[in-house]
This record gives sequence, C-alpha cells and structure tokens, in this order.
Amino acid sequence: VITKIKARQILDSRGIPTVEVDLFTNKGMFRASVPSGDTTGMYEAVDLRDGDKGTFLGNSVTRAVKNINEKISEALIGMDPTLQSQIDHAMIDLDKTEKKGELGANAILAVSIAACKAGAAEKEVPLYKYIAEISGETNLTLPVPAFTLISGGKHAGNHLAIQEIMILPIGASKFEEALQMGSETYHHLKCFADKKYLAKTSLDLARVFLSPVVSLRAWLLLQKNMVHMNVMLVKMVVLLQISQGNLKEGLDLLKEAISRTGYNDRIKIAIDVAASDFCIGTKYDLEIKVPNKSEQNFKSAEDMIEMYKELCSEYPIVSIEDPFDKEDWEHVKHFSSLGICQVVGDDLLMSNRKRIQRAIEESTCNALLLKVNQIGTVTEAIEVVRQAKEANMGVVTSHRCGETEDSFISDLSVGLGTGQIKAGAPCRGERLAKYNQLLRIEEELGDQAVYAGQDWKVSS
Ligand code: PGA
Ligand code: ZN
Repeated sequence: VITKIKARQILDSRGIPTVEVDLFTNKGMFRASVPSGDTTGMYEAVDLRDGDKGTFLGNSVTRAVKNINEKISEALIGMDPTLQSQIDHAMIDLDKTEKKGELGANAILAVSIAACKAGAAEKEVPLYKYIAEISGETNLTLPVPAFTLISGGKHAGNHLAIQEIMILPIGASKFEEALQMGSETYHHLKCFADKKYLAKTSLDLARVFLSPVVSLRAWLLLQKNMVHMNVMLVKMVVLLQISQGNLKEGLDLLKEAISRTGYNDRIKIAIDVAASDFCIGTKYDLEIKVPNKSEQNFKSAEDMIEMYKELCSEYPIVSIEDPFDKEDWEHVKHFSSLGICQVVGDDLLMSNRKRIQRAIEESTCNALLLKVNQIGTVTEAIEVVRQAKEANMGVVTSHRCGETEDSFISDLSVGLGTGQIKAGAPCRGERLAKYNQLLRIEEELGDQAVYAGQDWKVSS
C-alpha cells in the first residue's frame, strides 16, 4: 500500500520550478517529476503556478506541492498502488474541476506517474510492461525517435519562423542504431553549420542547434581584414540575413549532413511548423522574426499548402506538425486529405479528448502529439492513446521544452506502442534521459524487442 507521499519544488531544464514527488510503498520509494511547455492552450490541464512575481518571477509551484503533501496524500495513503485508475480518479474527484485547476495538473500528474512506477514494482515487472498490462496493449514497440536538429519559432532566438526540423531514422534495424544515426547526423550538422556561419552554433532550450550569432572567430577575421572591412561587414550581414529566415537553407544543411553519414534514405525528415505562432488573422508571416523588413510577405493558407507540397517533393519530409493555425480545422483537413505526409496535431489537439474526437470525426489530421502533462493523469493518457489508435491515427509521445530527468515517457511510448517519440536533440541530460532509457528497454527485451522502424505511423 501507499504509505507516504512527499512532494517538493525542483527546477526543470529551463531553470523554472516544477513538481517532484516521492511516493513510498512497502516496496520502496518511487520518484516522479513533471515537465512543462511554452504553449499553454486553453484546452489543456492547468499547470498550477503561485503567480507571486517576487518569487521565481511568478513561476514557483509551492501551492501544487502543498496540495500533494496535504490533500492528495490524505486521499491516497493506504491505497493499493496497482489500482492506477482508482488512484487517478480519486485525484480527479478531489479536484472537481474540468482542467484540474484546483489541485494543479502538475501536482496530480506527478503523483499519478509515481504511483504507476510503484504499481510496476508491486507487480515486479518493468514499467513499460506494467503500462502495457494496465492499458491492455499487446504490441510493445520501441518507437522511432524524432530528433530535433534545427530549432526556430518560439524556441529559438534566430529568424526561423517554423519551430522544429527533425530527423526520423526509420531505416534503422533497432533503436540503438537509430540513436547512433541521430547522433552522427547531429554532429555532422554541427560541423557544417559552424563552417558555414563562421560561428559556434548555439543551443536552444531543447539543446538543438540555432542559426548563428556573430562569433569571436568571425570578428577576428574581420579585424585581420581591416582594409576590406566594409565589404566584409556587408557580406556578413547578408550572410546572416539569408541564413536566418530561410527554412530551405536549414533543410539543405540537414540534407548535406544526412548524406555525409551515408544513411541517405534510411533517415526521413519531419517538421513542426507550430503555425499558430506566426499566424496573423488568416495569413502566415514566415518572416515574423526578421526585424526591419522592407516589405511584408504574408502567405495565405493556400500558399502554405503549395509550399508544403514543394517542400515534400524536394526533401524527404514524411511528417508535418501543426501546418496551420490551431483553430483552422478546415485547412488542416484539406492538407491531410492530400495524403502527402503524416499530419500531426499538437497545438490543434492539445491532447484534449474532445478535440481528438472532433479530429477523428472530421478526419482533420492523422496523428496525435501526446503531451501527458496536457492531460494530467496516466489513466487519461492511456485513454486518449486508445482513442487515437482505434481511429487509426498515429501517436507521437512527446516531451515538453521544460523537461526533467524523469524518463517516464520512454516507458509509456513502449508500453502503449505509440510508434514515435519526440524528445529533442540526441544531446543533453534531460533529453538523453529519455533516449537512454529506450536503449535500456531494448537491451532488456533482447530478442523480443521490436523497433517500429518502417511501421512508425501506426504500430498496431
Ligand atoms: P512546448 O511544445 O514548447 O510547448 O513544449 C513543443 C512542441 O510544440 O512540440
Ligand atoms: Zn508542436
């Protein structure tokens, strides 16, 4: 039985407070912490923050922590940790609000995940197997990782409007090889980018590459060529301007990096457009982050479709996330109906059951981006994955930009057989916590391990 629950405030990968909980049973202590994102849509579960501007700029989570240590503890102590659904529903009932705003979805999810880990220990099975058991999933699968290699949008201080360019090593024979392919491409890309921009390529929140800032090396070069300084300056500005708004430039660099690895067709490309972030009325401003533009260059939704068609024919793009504004269901539907690539709903669906149902009924998109903290309990995460899979939608288990060292989503993706996982670049602790856990799971499964590979879209 659950004997004690103790929560605390810790910091996430952005240095912003989040919730961690230690849940005790007779089998030991089980720890979980929760991520949080930059996008907090009105349909997602509430990430409860204190809002006291004098402390952590309003981001502390001491109320959520207190809710665990007092109300949630009181309700759950004495319960059997293997009763995941009952535990989650006890918290949902205690909260009484639709979006978990009373106790905080961050408080509820931390306890839900810790209870899931305790339940697995109680049953003496690995976490991913336990998740498969409680969800009724029979198809344990190692997911295809979507490694983010180039960052833009709200994640990056460059001029690229679209949020992420990712690679999918679908041609790997196993997850271990997929991780190697991702890492090698990452390092080749870094070399190319450093040379091209005469700069050390910087890293963003999810530790992926940004386009350049003027480096010391470029500056020294400039000093040595004082005579040509004006010319050099002009050249540099041009270089930086071209470099920074251009999606195709990023894709070309990536193509070059992939060809350098020799993996070629075995690696595909995915993009997260996060189009809501540069949608102005009904138009899209791909140069929204470029300062001092001489003219506006807006694209209509139809122009965007043409652009996606062109990109998919020029580059091995197999998946596009949020191609239009999050309320523009019609254009997402039209674009999906063209069957050019997987169309993923992240900001569109917000992992919200009702929005997923609408997307299923109207055939809006064909994959769900699963952000567990937008839902708030393990039980409900299992339900939405089932909902999506029954409708033949793909599922991408996803991290958030603010992550912790907790690798729960790795076990979740294997146990629910989601087929895809998006957890950032193959670099930095909080991202590698996820990828390295998948290595361990694959090792443990041995001969029984199945890598989703070419079946990445729908794995059961
Ligand atoms: P986040 O979103 O920054 O809100 O975590 C990541 C994403 O758009 O996939
Ligand atoms: Zn997204």
